[in-house]
This record gives sequence, structure tokens and C-alpha cells, in this order.
Amino acid sequence: MIDLHSHILPGLDDGSPSLAESLQMARQAVADGTTEMACTPHITPGIYENATANIARAVQALEQELRGAGIPLVLHVGADVHVAPDLPERLAEGSVPTLNSSRYFLFEPPHHVLPPRLEELAARLINSGFVPILTHPERLTWIKANYDVVERLNAAGCLIQITADSVIGAFGRSALYYSEKLIDEGRVDIIASDTHGARRRRPGLSQAVVAAAKRCGEDEVYNMVVKRPNDILANRPLEPIGKAHAKTGAAKAGRFAGLGRLFKGGSV
Ligand SMILES: [Fe+2]
Repeated sequence: MIDLHSHILPGLDDGSPSLAESLQMARQAVADGTTEMACTPHITPGIYENATANIARAVQALEQELRGAGIPLVLHVGADVHVAPDLPERLAEGSVPTLNSSRYFLFEPPHHVLPPRLEELAARLINSGFVPILTHPERLTWIKANYDVVERLNAAGCLIQITADSVIGAFGRSALYYSEKLIDEGRVDIIASDTHGARRRRPGLSQAVVAAAKRCGEDEVYNMVVKRPNDILANRPLEPIGKAHAKTGAAKAGRFAGLGRLFKGGSV
């Protein structure tokens, strides 16, 4: 599986605090069946002033440590990019990284406040040739009163990433409700861990994959954690989400054996 959202780089944000913890997170990810991970520290103006150059250096350094420790996890450069009015310019000049230099990037709205010009910013980004991946809308406190904003962002061309822990209920009832609603409506492009540590918010996608497969079927879940992330990292256009699975409750328990292909070498 390919995890496109992680805070595994040590010391760059509120994610991993140390190299030792990053290595432990990498081991946990691999044990759970993750083979590739995008390193996506926060870029939040005034709080986490990361940029392409220092993130790329940190990825290189961690890659070297993984090799030394014999941990088979492939890393990619990325960022968890908080909304900012100058984002189209900063992405175009390359100071804010996309995922593996593709057209796709993680687009993080504020958790508790809906910015007044969010849709206008998304439109400018899309018109500039980028594809925003809206991160974990199911966890935003404003989603309940503004679900139509998420619908319109999605219709305008923003992809949707939900967090693995939301799908298994670890972020509470509201995040679980909206993650299931988004899956049922055929809006979810990607499930990612958004891991922040080896104890709290650990890496791993397998439990969420099993839970999501009960709603949308294992073929669509495979798209969420393998096919689409792979196409994104290769900067390929994505096939539209098959709507056929929506609200069918798809897979039967007996079919889950097929998910084993995702967890090879894993502990599930
Ligand atoms: Fe994040």
C-alpha cells in the first residue's frame, strides 16, 4: 500500500520528534503492509515554515537511515499544505512541494474555521494546473454546517483524502459518520494515515481498508490505497471513481480474503 500523508520526518512539525521514533514509525508502517510513504510535514505560515528544500533534505537523510536499518520503505517528498492566499505562486515557483513533483498536492483547510474564500482559492489552484487533495474533510469541525462546500470543492476538481483512523472510529463519531458518508457517496479518492507518531496516531492503513471495504468493496479500496496513490506519484491523470459501489454496501465478508494481497508481509 502507498500512504500519501505522514508526519514521519523528525523535528519538522508536530509529528515525529526524533529519528528513533521515525524509524519505529517506518517499521510499523512496513509491518502493516505499507511499501511507500509520502513525507508530508505541515507548511503553515507563521507556525511551520517548511519548504521544498529542507523537506527534500530531510527525506534524503531519512532514506539513508532506513537503508542503514534495513527497513524497506520507499519515501517521497511532499507537504501538508495549509491554505494561504499565495499558494498558486508558491507551488508554481517550487518553494512549496507537490507530491513527488506531480500536479497533486495535499491541501489542508483550517480545522475550526471555514475560510471565506476557500472555493475561490481552490479554483485559482486548479486553473494554475494543480490538483488540490483536500485533506481529511471528515475531521473538520465546520463540515456539519458546510457540507455543501465540500461537495462543491469536490465537484470543482479537488480530490478527497480521508484519514485511516477516522474510518475505524478513532477520531470519534462525527469523523466516522462523515468518512462513511463520503465513502458511500463515492467521493473518497484516497485513504491515508496522517501518522504523527509511533504511539499516538500510528501509521497503518490495514484496519481502515477492511472497514472501508465493507462499504465500497475491495476493488474500490484497492484504488484508494494503491492504484490512485501510485498514479498520483507518477503524475498520471486519475480515472473517475466508479460510482457503482455507492450505497450498495458492496462486499460480503467472504470476499475479504482478497485483501490479503495488500497486506503481504504485514501483520494482518
Ligand atoms: Fe497532516
